[in-house]
Amino acid sequence: MSVRKIVLHPDPVLKEKCAPVRAFDEELATLVRDMAETMYAAPGVGLAAPQVGVTKRVFVADVRDEDPTGEGKLRVFVNPEIIKREGEVVWEEGCLSIPEVREEIKRAEKIVVRAFNEKGEPFELEADGLLSVCIQHENDHLDGVLMFDRMSPLKRKYALKRYLRMLERGEIPKDEPDDRECRRIG
Ligand code: NI
Repeated sequence: MSVRKIVLHPDPVLKEKCAPVRAFDEELATLVRDMAETMYAAPGVGLAAPQVGVTKRVFVADVRDEDPTGEGKLRVFVNPEIIKREGEVVWEEGCLSIPEVREEIKRAEKIVVRAFNEKGEPFELEADGLLSVCIQHENDHLDGVLMFDRMSPLKRKYALKRYLRMLERGEIPKDEPDDRECRRIG
């Protein structure tokens, strides 16, 4: 297992539409293990394959603190499809590929997602709260959609300008200590 490098915006790989996974093989298992390790090391609550430069329809999530058991649970989503969206919620999100940017994003409150795990077993999951937001955020990554694309034009312009300026000045930290509640969705 290894922690992989997280790709930062504006790397073009983040704008690509990812391809479905066709083989549930050892390569996929390794990718999933590395993605989980990378997510936990960040730390983040979710991570999508394009964020480590792999354009496949895979993401991992672990919302830990929000888990009723308090222990957290690694969830793996391969070829996910959100089949139901209900209600509306506004959540302050962050993204591991856009450090230092936190914005309120409007999402569906409840969702139902259908996906496969890394072994190729299908499952369906109903989610609300942080897990729902996280799944929608990560699922967006698989279509090359970033938080910026979910902001109002004015917010986007401001956030993008500020981010690019910080990046240019080398002010984007690679290992940002998160003293706040972890809101960097992934
Ligand atoms: Ni993200």
